[in-house]
Amino acid sequence: MKKTVKDFDLKGKKVIIRCDLNVPMTDNVIDDDTRIKASVRTIKYCLNCGAKVILLSHLGKVKTEKDKKTNSLYPVSIRLSKYLNREVYFCPETTGPKVIEMVNELEDGDVLLIENTRFEDLDGKKESNCDSKLAKFWSSLGDIFINDAYGSCHRDHASVTGIPQYLPSGLGFLTQKEVKKIDNILDSNTHPFVVILGGKKVDDKIVLIEKLLECCDKLIIGGAMSFTFLKVLGYNTGKSIVSEEHLDFCKRMLDKYQDKIVLPKDFVVLDKEEVITKKIEDFTSEDIGYDIGDKTVKLFIKEFEDAKRVVINGPMGMFEDSRFAIGTKKILKALDKNKIKVLVGGGDTASAVNNLGFEDSFYHVSTGGGATMKYLEERKLVGIEVIDNEKA
Ligand code: 3PG
Repeated sequence: MKKTVKDFDLKGKKVIIRCDLNVPMTDNVIDDDTRIKASVRTIKYCLNCGAKVILLSHLGKVKTEKDKKTNSLYPVSIRLSKYLNREVYFCPETTGPKVIEMVNELEDGDVLLIENTRFEDLDGKKESNCDSKLAKFWSSLGDIFINDAYGSCHRDHASVTGIPQYLPSGLGFLTQKEVKKIDNILDSNTHPFVVILGGKKVDDKIVLIEKLLECCDKLIIGGAMSFTFLKVLGYNTGKSIVSEEHLDFCKRMLDKYQDKIVLPKDFVVLDKEEVITKKIEDFTSEDIGYDIGDKTVKLFIKEFEDAKRVVINGPMGMFEDSRFAIGTKKILKALDKNKIKVLVGGGDTASAVNNLGFEDSFYHVSTGGGATMKYLEERKLVGIEVIDNEKA
C-alpha cells in the first residue's frame, strides 16, 4: 500500500502537490474546469491541516517561446481561487530566486501555484526528460510531496516521478479514488464485461486491444479505430483513418477473437455537403466515416444491454461537430438507461460525456485519458510506483 496525504502531519509543513491542471483553453479562457474542481479536495485538506501549499502542474505542450503565451497557468490560479475561497498566489517563474522568495513568504494556510512545469521543456526538455537537477530544485521547495495528478501518472517527468525521489511522498485523494474505481471495475467478477473503444488515436490504443480481449466478453469497436479492422476484412474504407502498420495485428486479433469483436455495419458520411448514412459495403474510395450509423447503434446496444460492467474509451464519431455526435449520444444514453456500471476513460470521452449532458450518469468518469489506458494495460503507473510505501 502507498502512503497517502493522511499519513503525514502537515501542520506548518511546506507541501508540494503535483496536480493535473491541464485544462482545455482557448485564447487563455478555460473551456472545461473539471480537472480544477477535481483537485480541490486534496488542496483544501492540506490547507485545513495548516500546511503551506505549493502547487505544480503542466499545461499542454510547450515547444516554442510562443507556446508560453498560450500555456500559462495564470487563468487557472484565478479559477482555483474561486473554488478554494481564498487567494491563490501565482509565481510566473518555474525555477530561480523568484520562486524561492515566494515560497519563503508563504504562511500556514497559504497556497501558491507555480507556472507551467513544461516551460522547463524549452531548455533541453528538462521536465519531460525527468532532469534530476530540476527535480532536486523543486523538491528543495517543500517538506512533503503529494501526487494528486492522476492524469499525469503515466509520465516519467521531473514534477511527477523526479521530486518524490528526494522527499517523503504520498498520494492525494483524486489519485487514490481514480485507481480504486478502475480496480473495482476490473476486479469485480461480474459478466458480461463489455469494452467499447472508439476515438481517433488509433495507434495509441490499438496495442491495448489484446490485453482487453483476454479479459472481456465483448469488445465493441466504433469510431475511427474500426476502419483498420474493416480493411482487414476486405472492405473499401475510402479515406477513413486506417493504421496501415497495425493491419497484421488486427488480422491476428480477428482470427483469434472473432466471437468477441463487434464492428460497425454502417456509417454517417458526407455526400457533397449532405449528411447521409451508408453501409460499409457501399463505401467508395472517397468516403470518410464520421459517425456510426443507425444499424450499428442498434447492434452495439444489443451487444451491451445485458452487460454488468462496461469500460468506454473514445467517442463513436467526430462528436465535436453536432452532425456527427448522434452515435456517441445514443450509446451513452443506452448505457445510462440500462443502469450499467460504466467506467468512462478520460480525455475526449469525458468531454463527450460532459458536453452531451451525461456528467452525472455513470459509475466513474475518469479525469485521465492516457493514464487510464496505461493503467488498464499494465495495472500500474510510474507516478504511483515511486510514491513511498506504508510501513508493513
Ligand atoms: C492528459 O491530458 O491526458 C494529461 O494531462 C497528460 O497530458 P499529456 O498527454 O500532455 O502528458
